Amino acid sequence: MDYEERITSAQMGQGEERSEFSLRPQSLQDYIGQKAATDNLKVFIEAAKLRGEPLDHVLFYGPPGLGKTTLAGIIANEMGVDIRITSGPAIERAGDLAAILTNLNDNDVLFIDEIHRLNRSVEEVLYSAMEDYALDIIIGKGPSARSIRLDIARFTLIGATTRAGSLSAPLRDRFGVSCKFEMYTTDELAEIIRRTAGLLKVPVDEQSVIEMARRSRGTPRVANRILKRVRDFSQVRGSGSIDIDITRNALDALGVDFMGLENLDREILKTIIDRFDGGPVGIDTIAASIGEERVTIEDVYEPYLIQIGFLNRTKKGRVVSQAAYRHLGLEYCGEEDDQLEMDV
Ligand code: ADE
Repeated sequence: MDYEERITSAQMGQGEERSEFSLRPQSLQDYIGQKAATDNLKVFIEAAKLRGEPLDHVLFYGPPGLGKTTLAGIIANEMGVDIRITSGPAIERAGDLAAILTNLNDNDVLFIDEIHRLNRSVEEVLYSAMEDYALDIIIGKGPSARSIRLDIARFTLIGATTRAGSLSAPLRDRFGVSCKFEMYTTDELAEIIRRTAGLLKVPVDEQSVIEMARRSRGTPRVANRILKRVRDFSQVRGSGSIDIDITRNALDALGVDFMGLENLDREILKTIIDRFDGGPVGIDTIAASIGEERVTIEDVYEPYLIQIGFLNRTKKGRVVSQAAYRHLGLEYCGEEDDQLEMDV
């Protein structure tokens, strides 16, 4: 199955954007989690509003599905400005970016998702736009070519990336604010599930809320998707309200185990165990063995496996932990986890 179709995938599936949008919180007050980031942003937003200036450029980084686009929308709402949403790969030429930038109004937000995937010529246009609110345009060719400077609106760029390390230094340095997105706690996910269940008008008991939260791998997008699928089971096989039996049956039917792992997570772990003795093994070798792209494994699967301590990144490669063997019901005969030389 394509990872975008998986229940636990943090990537957005086709057609999901619209339905998710209506469930998205619109104000900071309704936004759950990421407290370190939102506490600071509240101050910066208020200060920018007091001065009547745009908010400084903001970089969001962290695994997918943690609410970066949602928070960008909230920032625009709180600033009382419009937001234009696009992504790195969608802006193919410098001219595409120039067209977007010249259509912005003062203080508007431009959100660029996957900003690490901007191509170099586009990125270079962004530098003067971010720093001086100006575009340098070359007119003509050869010896008679000259450059003119075009002023644009004083805007805020919010860039989002799953890999801050892939951003070029000149681009990274032009962001005044940098926010790291953390995985959500079970309590925070439970709060999000209660909120979404309320919006969907589906009755759900507390035990089920916690069960779904625990299996949502720290990701609100997964939590909301699981809730919708469990609701389907409750409507077709139950009374329409969600109880713990329906929840467990639905999650089992979907192949989501009690830690939130599904087939591909287990396949990654089992491949490292069966074919490479539990590791260490390089990421490219793992990717080739299971037929997934390296970036998909790194950005989508690994963050959660590392977060729950099932996978370690060491200097020599990936190593499956003793806890993961236990979870899979396999006997462990490697080193104790605390003897591994971790990659920092
Ligand atoms: N839905 C998705 N992410 C959310 C969040 N962080 N807070 C509230 N509702 C959400």
